[in-house]
Amino acid sequence: MKIAPFELERWYVQYEFNVKYNISASCGRETTTAELLAMAGPEATEKYLSLGLDYTQNPGDPLLRAEIASQYANLSPDQIQVTTGASEAIFLLMNLLLEPGDTVIAEAPIYQSLFSVAEAVGANVKRWWLHEEDGWQPDLDELSRLIDSRTRMVVVNSPHSPTGSVLSRETRRALVDLAERHGFWLISDEVYRGIVYNPADDLPPAADLSDRAISIGDMTKPYGLGGLRVGWIAAHDRGVLSACSALRDYTTMCNSAPSEFLATVALQHKEELLARNLTIARENLATLEAFMEKHREILSWVKPRGGFTAFPGFNPPMDGGTLGFGEAAGKVMPSQEFCRRLVEVNNVLLLPGSTFGVEGHFRVGFGQTPKTFKTGLELWSGFLTRLQGL
Ligand SMILES: Cc1ncc(COP(=O)(O)O)c(C=O)c1O
Repeated sequence: MKIAPFELERWYVQYEFNVKYNISASCGRETTTAELLAMAGPEATEKYLSLGLDYTQNPGDPLLRAEIASQYANLSPDQIQVTTGASEAIFLLMNLLLEPGDTVIAEAPIYQSLFSVAEAVGANVKRWWLHEEDGWQPDLDELSRLIDSRTRMVVVNSPHSPTGSVLSRETRRALVDLAERHGFWLISDEVYRGIVYNPADDLPPAADLSDRAISIGDMTKPYGLGGLRVGWIAAHDRGVLSACSALRDYTTMCNSAPSEFLATVALQHKEELLARNLTIARENLATLEAFMEKHREILSWVKPRGGFTAFPGFNPPMDGGTLGFGEAAGKVMPSQEFCRRLVEVNNVLLLPGSTFGVEGHFRVGFGQTPKTFKTGLELWSGFLTRLQGL
């Protein structure tokens, strides 16, 4: 398989595990095994310690599937396929549902596997660009222009990374109607489901609305449990689900028993975990708002409505300041160059917009501990001030 390098991951591989202030990640605050076991009580700890470490069931542990299914209005546990993170869900669906030459329309910017896997399968991917001046909201007229007779799939992500935008109820409905009218699959990446800052933005999952819509979820983002590597596909079509299961025989076969057990515990306490992570994110968002206000001459943004990320734009007066950017005077500094200097000078990690194909922007992640976030922003603020030569 020939597949494009995953730009975001290639950036993170250089810095993620040795930087002091990572203020770019898209997950909620990390949850520990001890926290989960404490929530579940002493009997659960006993059970966890005596879990067998043999293979588990390919479609997922029945208890876990039941917990996941309960988040959908009209899906039963056998309409859930558990996967190794949303990453595997995306990989299986694209490989199964697409043929070379099919048209796939994917929002842009978007998490790269949502279009690169389709390209690797041989699909013709059309990018459906979101724009800052539209509040990063998709334009349905533009989608209608992109749809052609070979359109097999439309891919959306809401709440959206990196921009933090959220689809409106009307747009979600319109997408489902278009999927039914044209007969394409609506792939709805909902890994940030439940992470919204106004309850009215909490949309029902796409899979609840139509047989043509498939929802993808995970334990990584809302619960800070990326290391469990648990995600899922939720769909009405049992044929698609059993084909995903058969393809999974060749990828990861199954999850690990400890991961499934802890994911089940987390879902049994999901309100508590979500409330905790939303409280943290709200506090960080207020700190970020003050930071954006302070630097409004050179930074622009659309305040996120959901998820744990924002995507500010950078509009520098390029006179070089004291950080040696003079050579770039008159040009927009490449976002990778900016982020590289920030991480090397201040030990603060942002994600360059170029990893999403958008220059002049950065992804900021505000899901983690407020202390780390605040210090990271203070250091970034000092960097910007020196950059401006103030
Ligand atoms: C929108 C989106 N989908 C899917 C994923 C994959 O996540 P995981 O495999 O940890 O579930 C990510 C990770 O950053 C993401 O941002």
